Amino acid sequence: MVAVPPPTPSLNSAMRFSAVFSSLLAAVAVTATPNPISGSSNIVLRDPAIWYNSASKLYYVFSTGGGLSMFTSSALTGPWTSAGAVLPSGCSVIAQNGNCNVWAPDVNYIDGLYTVYYAISELGSQNSAIGVAQSSSMAAGTWTDLGFVIDSVTGDVYNAIDPNIIDDDGLKLSFGSYWDGIYQIGIYPNVNDQASALPGTHLAGNSGRALEAGFVYKPASSSYYFCFFSNGTTPLQGATVRPPTGAEYRVLVGRGASAMGPFYGPAGNPLTDPGTGAVVLASHDNIYAPGGQNVYADPVSGRDIMVYHYVPNNAFGGPSYLGINYLDFSSGWPVVVD
Ligand SMILES: *[C@@H]1O[C@H](CO)[C@@H](O)[C@H](O)[C@H]1NC(C)=O
Repeated sequence: MVAVPPPTPSLNSAMRFSAVFSSLLAAVAVTATPNPISGSSNIVLRDPAIWYNSASKLYYVFSTGGGLSMFTSSALTGPWTSAGAVLPSGCSVIAQNGNCNVWAPDVNYIDGLYTVYYAISELGSQNSAIGVAQSSSMAAGTWTDLGFVIDSVTGDVYNAIDPNIIDDDGLKLSFGSYWDGIYQIGIYPNVNDQASALPGTHLAGNSGRALEAGFVYKPASSSYYFCFFSNGTTPLQGATVRPPTGAEYRVLVGRGASAMGPFYGPAGNPLTDPGTGAVVLASHDNIYAPGGQNVYADPVSGRDIMVYHYVPNNAFGGPSYLGINYLDFSSGWPVVVD
């Protein structure tokens, strides 16, 4: 038998259209979620917060543990260098029961001072407190720990960790993790003065939903305020079992007309309804369980950026790393872009 080559397929126009369309979709799918910007992923940390120090012309990244370890770089693309800690003794004046593990920094510039809110807690416990420290320069050794702002105990509807401050018609502090979710109170007249009753305004979550790391942000380019949060389980170093797919950390968001909420998901339900929120960043490529995010208006690029931690998908059980991406709000919702 002589091998007869198969006939050359002749595509009708509908088939051609669908072939082109699927290759377009494939191209979109490949570029849909950019990887962290180059150079942003060589430091091990959790729960990053970022601020640009215009005097030293350095970006500072603050992170959980080690008394709030700091890293600096002259560019978002690194290289990042270890730059000491906010609380170099590893502890705070509000350490509870000798527990000195300082978590989840949030950084802002308030009345001429760099201001870092932080939490002290124990994994899975409501024996938690939020404190605050200030510096005129950000450099290690210049931070004054002002200590206590608020706390929580067993039986409260909230857990006083994961602080986030927004300076919008007065200071508003949001906080919360699991239990009934994320709440917000006023802070006045000083950065460590609680100005409204706890638990405050309920922004997101309920009934033990796995949700934490609330972050309220107003992009200059949008009329909306956005409440970002981390949904699902964050894998800790040493973890051996992955959560079910989709139940690992992801960055979600809701939006509203005010820094005090209410914030709504894309279907119009408030974030206090079960399951609400639009996905901003989920596991993709070698990025697994991204979360612990902060969002910042980068004065150098003039763009909105998001910093977060993730575990390399091919190194589950190992430490988490810094990720940085640009965000675009022109669709009305934050989209991770190149
Ligand atoms: C949020 O996390 C839970 C796991 O606690 C998961 O079942 C759910 O699908 C997640 N929601 C989204 C929108 O990612």
